[in-house]
Amino acid sequence: MRRRIVAGNWKMNKDHVEGAALARDIAAGLAARPSSCEVVLIPPFTSLPAVREAIRGSAAKAGAQDISAEDEGAFTGEISGRMLRALGCEYVLVGHSERRHIIGEGGALLARKLRAALRSGLSPVYCVGELLGERESGAAEEVVSRQIREGCEGLSPAEFSRVVLAYEPVWAIGTGRTATPKDASDMHGAIRRLIGDLLGAEAAAEVPVLYGGSVKPESAAGLLADREIDGLLVGGASLAADSFLAIVPR
Ligand code: 13P
Repeated sequence: MRRRIVAGNWKMNKDHVEGAALARDIAAGLAARPSSCEVVLIPPFTSLPAVREAIRGSAAKAGAQDISAEDEGAFTGEISGRMLRALGCEYVLVGHSERRHIIGEGGALLARKLRAALRSGLSPVYCVGELLGERESGAAEEVVSRQIREGCEGLSPAEFSRVVLAYEPVWAIGTGRTATPKDASDMHGAIRRLIGDLLGAEAAAEVPVLYGGSVKPESAAGLLADREIDGLLVGGASLAADSFLAIVPR
């Protein structure tokens, strides 16, 4: 049985006071109605201490949205994996499409960030996904394969066992346009075959592959019912406790 995970990526929303209130509401909801999935809250860095405090003793876990590729030193503005671990983070996003396409992070840097996460004991949630033009020109699988290779090739089986993958087609993020379960399932299958080629059958069978991109309470169950989809990475709908809890399965 693969791990199943539903994570809320709050992006640059909610200050620490608003974040604590949202996390408390989610923790209360989970206490009333436990989930078979791991639930991970991924607030901005500045909200992490307050969110951790708010979910203490609950089933929810904390993750960060980014990590430095470096471990320590003169890197102004960066946050290290050790700092995130010290705050109780278990997960960190690496390669989110907004960091690839808006901030401009490239494959080599993301591979270093993924390794920094592993060195510090975090589970990287490595995000991949094609642009609309790439899907329309039939290049989606090639783009996603390149991103997976850039991040994961050369990892040992032990290292890879802590990696979570997230397929987030860029055209589905924040657009209200969700990939169909079939589109997502096909890509997840392709990702799993590639992991099998790169890292072996056991790695392919065990890596959780999450889907993200305009996931809403109305679309979540259909996506989660697909055997290739091991969980969800939720943006906008994770910013309110009721819509996020409606996505988290029992
Ligand atoms: P939306 O759910 O707002 O489309 O965002 C998805 C996402 O980028 C999660 O990381």
